[in-house]
Amino acid sequence: MHRRQFLQLTGGGAVAALCPSVAADIGSIKRLAIRAQSGRVHIVGPDFPATAIWGYDGQVPGTSIRLVHGQALEASVHNDLDVPTSVHWHGIRLPNAMDGVAGVTQPAIAPGDSFDYRFTPPDAGTFWYHSHINAHEQVGRGLYGPLVIEEKEPPVVDRDLVLMIDDWRLLDDASIKEDFESGHDRSHAGRIGNAPTVNGRFRDVLEVRYGERLRLRLINASNARNFALDFAPLKPDVIAIDGQPITPYRPDDAIVIAAGGRVDLIVDIFADPGSMLEVSDSFYRRPFSLIKFAVGDEPLRQSPLETAIALNPAQLPEPDLSNAKSYEVVLDGGAMGGLERAMMDGKWMNLFDIARQGYAWALNDIVGNRLDMPPLIDVPLGTHISLTIDNRTAFPHPMHLHGHHIKLLSIDDHPVPQPHWVDSPLVMPRQKLQFAFVADNPGKWLFHCHILEHHAAGMGSIVRVS
Ligand code: C2O
Ligand code: CU
Repeated sequence: MHRRQFLQLTGGGAVAALCPSVAADIGSIKRLAIRAQSGRVHIVGPDFPATAIWGYDGQVPGTSIRLVHGQALEASVHNDLDVPTSVHWHGIRLPNAMDGVAGVTQPAIAPGDSFDYRFTPPDAGTFWYHSHINAHEQVGRGLYGPLVIEEKEPPVVDRDLVLMIDDWRLLDDASIKEDFESGHDRSHAGRIGNAPTVNGRFRDVLEVRYGERLRLRLINASNARNFALDFAPLKPDVIAIDGQPITPYRPDDAIVIAAGGRVDLIVDIFADPGSMLEVSDSFYRRPFSLIKFAVGDEPLRQSPLETAIALNPAQLPEPDLSNAKSYEVVLDGGAMGGLERAMMDGKWMNLFDIARQGYAWALNDIVGNRLDMPPLIDVPLGTHISLTIDNRTAFPHPMHLHGHHIKLLSIDDHPVPQPHWVDSPLVMPRQKLQFAFVADNPGKWLFHCHILEHHAAGMGSIVRVS
């Protein structure tokens, strides 16, 4: 494409995703030093005091990491906090030793120490990184950041923006409410906050232009809050879920993004110049506006770009169901659940005794109270797996498998219109989801609910690929 033609297509706007340095970066190494440290951030605006947080380089979201597909990352993480920490690279199919689960794949990084992470992400897409030790507290205090692997040939857009969503539980003076061990949160919906933010700001306003084409990379870093976002009157197309490409489709309903999950959207801003659009959430009973888009007075272009928005298809090994080992995982427990007894530390216990120790949930009747528990699934490398997740609890659970993506095939025995790869699928109450995948990444991988209080309260296990 000639440069002039290109400028016409994009209206001459900035095209972040297509900088000329892209080709040069492939095969190179991106070196970063990141510090886990405390900081002060204005979350709810200038009328309130700054909030004391823990963040990567003292910010929320933490330092934004962008690589080009094919580039390696070398991140030296230094712990400036008073407590041990570790960094998990959520959704990246990396070598097990780099997965960042303290106590499983590495020792925790002690205060004052560092750990060098080094891997080459095999997939382009939208990912994130976060603490994986006492995550319900450390992520709740802000230890997370975006990790974007750019496609070598991304769709043409005017701006490629990360919208990293969080949900803070703040007191009236904007300080973090430190009730991280709340028993109610552990056994109910998790730590639902009172200040949902985008990129660390409550009620933020994004300035956009008529005709502008945006790629929005939504990342849900909340401890517990799931979102169902309504962009009307805009009509976004979904182009990727949990980092993996999907044939673009335009949803009729709100776009659901579970805790830990990601959704990539392409949206053309066609709304009255000068207007203010609300992106509202309706996942729970009380709807609210998460962020506003202010449409500027000056149109960028009059008719939509005609370039394709589809990403190149995902490159994952195709599972063969005729040749697969079947596993069923039953989620049970929690408030208003039917669990009466479960196995903990190898012993059957009643729910009362389990709850007394701070636990509330079980996978296949086993409470995941320790990281050295026997694996729930234990298979040799290369095994094709058919996996059913059956939620018998009263709450939704985003179930995250480390080191793999799993292909969603059907919901309650109804095939989904487009089977697609996910790493943090939301399983609604009484729902049964069917997946398939190839266990092609050796190691001990965590499989847990990404409502971080649920994980802390026993909703987790291990998948071992040997
Ligand atoms: Cu994003 Cu085990 O987590
Ligand atoms: Cu859960």
